[in-house]
Amino acid sequence: MPDRIPREFIDGLISRVDIVDIIDSRYPLKKSGSEFKACCPFHNEKTPSFHVIPVKQFYHCFGCGANGTAIDFLMRYDNLGFVEAVEELARTAGLVIPYVASEGGTQQRVSPSKRSEGESLYPIMEAASNFYQQALRQHQQAQRAIHYLKTRGVSGEIAKTFALGFAPDGWNNLTQALAKYSVQELSAAGLVKENSEKRSYYDRFRDRIIFPIRDPRGRVVALGGREIPGSAASSHGAKYLNSPETAIFHKGDELYGLFEARQQQREMARVIVVEGYMDVVSLFQYGIHNVVATLGTSVTRSHLTKLFRMTPEIVFCFDGDRAGKDAAWRGLENGLELMRGNRTLKFLFLPDGEDPDTLIRKGGTEAFLQRVEEAETLSHYFFEKLTSQVDLRQLDGQARLLELATPLLQKIPQGALRQLLSQRLAAMTNSHPIQPLPAESAGQPPAKYGKASGRRPHQGGRYGATSKQREPPSLVRRVISLLLQQPSLASEFEKLPQLSTLQLPGITLLVRLIDYLQQQPEVTLATIIEHWREDEEGRHLQSIAAIESLLQDDAEALKKEFVGAMMELDNLLLTQEHDQLLQRYQNGQITLDEKDRYRQVVEMLRKKREKH
Ligand code: UTP
Ligand code: MN
Repeated sequence: MPDRIPREFIDGLISRVDIVDIIDSRYPLKKSGSEFKACCPFHNEKTPSFHVIPVKQFYHCFGCGANGTAIDFLMRYDNLGFVEAVEELARTAGLVIPYVASEGGTQQRVSPSKRSEGESLYPIMEAASNFYQQALRQHQQAQRAIHYLKTRGVSGEIAKTFALGFAPDGWNNLTQALAKYSVQELSAAGLVKENSEKRSYYDRFRDRIIFPIRDPRGRVVALGGREIPGSAASSHGAKYLNSPETAIFHKGDELYGLFEARQQQREMARVIVVEGYMDVVSLFQYGIHNVVATLGTSVTRSHLTKLFRMTPEIVFCFDGDRAGKDAAWRGLENGLELMRGNRTLKFLFLPDGEDPDTLIRKGGTEAFLQRVEEAETLSHYFFEKLTSQVDLRQLDGQARLLELATPLLQKIPQGALRQLLSQRLAAMTNSHPIQPLPAESAGQPPAKYGKASGRRPHQGGRYGATSKQREPPSLVRRVISLLLQQPSLASEFEKLPQLSTLQLPGITLLVRLIDYLQQQPEVTLATIIEHWREDEEGRHLQSIAAIESLLQDDAEALKKEFVGAMMELDNLLLTQEHDQLLQRYQNGQITLDEKDRYRQVVEMLRKKREKH
């Protein structure tokens, strides 16, 4: 059953590890004053604008805006999910995660990866892959394999890049070579199979070319084996044989070529998804490195989630036949929920009888890339596919189209794509757009706060001004940002209960943040962000921290700005009190005490105004 990682553990973990070590061990940093710098790993640049700030335990790139905690870095750089990143950090810190059982939650965090179970399988897979690679170089039977690879145009260098190997013919070559592991272990790794009658084990891969499947970190998690045409064993069995599912291999999660592609470039403008191992290898050899293949399955949501972490555009490059089109459609269905922001999904269908491997060999790199450029958009393919199933000239055909399209459109997050498709659907079926689209929320924190109250101060602190245009950061947000930069400032707040009566967007978050910081005076920015990551209001803290001048390190200047902001808050409190008292006055509800207070407030406000 899914377990949860306690929040206190993550808090402790973040304060235990050093973000500088975590990043530097993967991507070397240079010390510069009290910070560390490098050229950003997430975009191309010549001068370093990627900063790691030890006191904040935070990184920030001034070029592309990438930022976050050690966990964020691992998620992005090693392409891990949240839980995996926490597990990796815990391992680095030598801590055991105290999972607590929870009854089937819905959030991602509650499902720990199963990887830790299979930890012992990695070295076995590595050893097997090494054995097969070695055999391709020196086994006496290897000649046929080498010859076949040559006929397919695979260079020695590419064979090395992909760690291609050769499984010699025979029932126990691997079992013997890996004798230091028990057959039970080899079986758990999926390398040998049990013969039920004789109660013995035999090698799964025999007389095949071996394609190691590596996870994004480069660990071999499975093998694919291709038959060698013309050899004795090829008269029976499938063309390709894959490892079975094991504790470390779930074929719906892995992508062939992903590790190799990311060795060239961590983040890509686009990733091409093809169907075959050989397609990946060929395109790579022709200089197209941003290409991955599924492992004989359709494209899953998990695949797409992984890919969208490193690219905004995914192009499915499939056969133009029935099977290819079906696979593309399933990929589309699985991707709809993920289509937010600037993400795009495109479809490239190849001519009959061709696959990327044959095409690029015939036409070359440029021609292939040209096809990719011209891939169909999601909206085009979406309607092409659906309208081919109905007769739009008939009323019931239009109704049927609505029926088919509506549940699919509803999967797409609110945004431009959904709007576009809804409008087009409405036009095609002479109906109204599926549902009136609520004003698009930009996902920015200020927009979210916006619904709490229509009132919003201008930067100068004048009360009650409203404007539909993009506004300067609100006072509350500036204070939050200052606190994130200098958490110790929270101790300056004395009037928390009063503050929470202020009717300003975001005020409850501010009050909760101050309360938290007053209890935890020593925290770093990273701890704050991890602590609040799953909080409905607090998960925007990171983007607030990043938007503002995060590296304003001049403590004096920060303090001054903060004092100014406190005065503004004070003014707001007074103004609010003034308005409320005045209202009671006008309604004839005011008491004598309140009348006194009213005069005081008016006086205080007058004095304040005079000062300015
Ligand atoms: P293809 O037959 O298109 O693969 O199958 P390919 O890479 O182009 O093969 P070559 O060019 O003939 O060498 C696509 C994918 O489907 C899976 C494999 O993952 C393969 O790469 N497959 C195919 C199997 O798992 N088993 C099979 O028998 C065939
Ligand atoms: Mn092929």
